[in-house]
Amino acid sequence: MTQMVLWGVVVWLVSAATVFGETAPNRGRESDRGPTFDALIEAEKTARLLAVLLDSGRAVISENQPPFDSTSKGRKGFTPEVFERQLVEVFRSRSGLDLNDLASARLSTKAVRLLRSLVSVSKQVVAEVQDQINRSDGTVSGFIPAVLGARAAAQFTKQTGVQLKQTALAPRNPVNAPDPFEQAALRDFADPAYPREKTITEVTAQSGVLHLMFPLYATRHCLDCHGEPKGEIDKTGYPKEGLQLGYNAGAISVVIPVKK
Ligand code: HEC
Repeated sequence: MTQMVLWGVVVWLVSAATVFGETAPNRGRESDRGPTFDALIEAEKTARLLAVLLDSGRAVISENQPPFDSTSKGRKGFTPEVFERQLVEVFRSRSGLDLNDLASARLSTKAVRLLRSLVSVSKQVVAEVQDQINRSDGTVSGFIPAVLGARAAAQFTKQTGVQLKQTALAPRNPVNAPDPFEQAALRDFADPAYPREKTITEVTAQSGVLHLMFPLYATRHCLDCHGEPKGEIDKTGYPKEGLQLGYNAGAISVVIPVKK
């Protein structure tokens, strides 16, 4: 599978180089050119950072889950600003980049704009669910990593045209069902021998987009809902998947246009 995907990239690069070689500058139409190698590398880097950022937001929600679901306190103090501070920390530890100082990072203006936009829509989602996470009537808040992920991703895609999606081989929500490329990548990720955090990327000449799959892993918190015993109903009403600590728990899929 991985080989096939790599081959896809190679095929495009070769054909891009051929077309480029035939059309000297100022001759040939712009649209005939394939993307440059630099454009592919840039799109790959941006897609990966977006996946890490969405996953960092999910991790922040996951870490704060117990207080959301406790009934003892009223206001939980989890404001959009508190969320952002924690998001900045988690993203810094995972990517080495400071979201408060992206201008001095070696990133394209497009990457900076997209990262800022994802922070802003994620904060917006946290602002929208304040009533939900502050309630103390004995019901669970319902604000879980997947809800942040789905809502922030949908809003982000609408704003930017870059597609972000959480997916798994046997998704709880049919909206998250994988397409054939995603399915093949998820099967690779599910193999316990698969290297950790190794993304899988597909580029096809016709599509003009780069499709990146970023694997997710089950932490302790995830197992409350996705862990064992398999089939037992979790607090959100879905049967548990029987996942184990540290094993693959699905993926974030990013589809980003590549500049030609
Ligand atoms: C409180 C329960 C709960 C926790 C904790 C939780 N999830 Fe989920 N997860 C859900 C629910 C419910 C959905 C379906 C949400 C929806 O309807 O879109 C879901 C959806 C997902 C999806 C999208 C595919 C699908 O099944 O629809 C992935 C991937 C996922 N979870 C991974 C994780 C990971 C990784 C963690 C830990 C960081 C985690 N979840 C923590 C309940 C939970």
